[in-house]
Amino acid sequence: WFGHVEPAAKDPILGVTEAFLADPSPDKVNVGVGAYRDDNGKPVVLECVREAERRIAGNLNMEYLPMGGSIKMIEESLKLAYGEDSELIKEKRIAAVQALSGTGACRLFADFQKRFLPDTQIYIPIPTWANHHNIWRDACVPQRTFRYYHPETKGLDFASMMDDIKNAPNGSFFLLHACAHNPTGVDPSEEQWREISYQFKVKNHFPFFDMAYQGFASGDPNRDAKAIRIFLEDGHLIGCAQSYAKNMGLYGQRVGCLSILCEDELQAVAVKSQLQQLARPMYSNPPVHGALVVSIILGDPELKSLWLKEVKGMADRIIGMRKALRENLEKLGSPLSWEHITNQIGMFCYSGMTPEQVDRLTDEFHIYMTRNGRISMAGVTTGNVGYLANAIHEVTKS
Ligand code: LMR
Repeated sequence: WFGHVEPAAKDPILGVTEAFLADPSPDKVNVGVGAYRDDNGKPVVLECVREAERRIAGNLNMEYLPMGGSIKMIEESLKLAYGEDSELIKEKRIAAVQALSGTGACRLFADFQKRFLPDTQIYIPIPTWANHHNIWRDACVPQRTFRYYHPETKGLDFASMMDDIKNAPNGSFFLLHACAHNPTGVDPSEEQWREISYQFKVKNHFPFFDMAYQGFASGDPNRDAKAIRIFLEDGHLIGCAQSYAKNMGLYGQRVGCLSILCEDELQAVAVKSQLQQLARPMYSNPPVHGALVVSIILGDPELKSLWLKEVKGMADRIIGMRKALRENLEKLGSPLSWEHITNQIGMFCYSGMTPEQVDRLTDEFHIYMTRNGRISMAGVTTGNVGYLANAIHEVTKS
C-alpha cells in the first residue's frame, strides 16, 4: 500500500530543532525555532500562567468545549486585538472561534476562503514564515507574492510593496504580519501602515493579519495592535489570527483565536457557524486547558498586569541580546555592518547570512538556525552571545 511514499522534506524550522536535539556537542546553541528562553537558556513558564494553573487545579472538568471554543477566551482575545472598548465588539460584528494557535487560525481562515471565496488568491510577503506557504497550499488557495524586504538595507522595501499592492487585481486577499514580522523583524512604521491601509481601501483589498507576536515588537500588546487599529479606523473588514504561543509562552497548548470582522451581526453569526462547520470534521472542538489559562489571565486585572509586565520582560531581554550580539561582532572587528541586529524588532534577526554560511555555523560550531539566516534572538543568552558572535564573525569575515 505504501511503497510509493517517499520521506517528506524536513521542515525548515522544526527540522532545525530535530537536528539540534540529535547533536551530542556540549557547545551546541539553538537559535532556530522562535521559542523564548531565559538567560540560562531554559524554557520559561510565566508566573501569571503558574497562578492561573493554581486556580484551575481541581476545578477543571474534562467536558468538551463548544465547536467554536471557549466563549470567554474569545471575548478576551477580541478585546486584545480590536481594543478594550471596541464598538465592533459591542455591535457583535466579529465572527470568532478559538483556534489551534496561530497555525490553526490561519488554516481555518484559508479553508474558509477556499470554501466561500473559491476564486480568490492570497498575496503573501516575500519572505514570510515558511509555514504560511504550506497552509494556503494545503487549503488549495492559489498563492501570489508581494515584495516586502530589501536585502541591501535589511529593512522594508516599502516602494516595491506599495507597487505590488497597487498592481494586484482589485479585491485581492493579502496576508500581513500585524507586528514583529517573521522572519525579518522588519515592520512598516505607523505612517507607512496608514499609507498601506489607504491603498487597500482604494483597491478594495482584504487584509488578513497574522498576529503571532503581539507584545514582542514594542513590549506592549496594545501598541503592537496598532496596524490592526489603523485598518479598523479606516473602516476595513479584516481577518485576524491570534496566537498565545509566544506572548504567554503557551507553545504546546495550541491556543489562539481566528476572527473575521463582518458587515453586521447577522453576517457574523453566519460566518461563525461556518467556521465551526469547518472545525468539526478536522478536530471537533479545540482543547480546553490553554483556553482556560488565557481566560483567567486576561479576565483578572491583577493577573493581566502581571502578564503585561512579564511580556515586557521577555521583549526587553531580547533587546538586550540584540545590543550584545551587535557589540560583540563590532568588537571582533567585523568588516560588515551589523546595525540591522538592533534595528530589527521582535523575536528574530534576519542576519543576511547565506545558507552556506549557516551550514558552516552548524557544521563547525554546532550553532543551529534556519538556512535563510534567521537568528531567533530569544535563544541568545549572556552565556552564548560571545560564542555566537565569534562563530558568525568566522563565517562572514572573508
Ligand atoms: C517559528 O517561526 O520559529 C515559530 O513560529 C515556530 C513554528 O512553528 O515555526
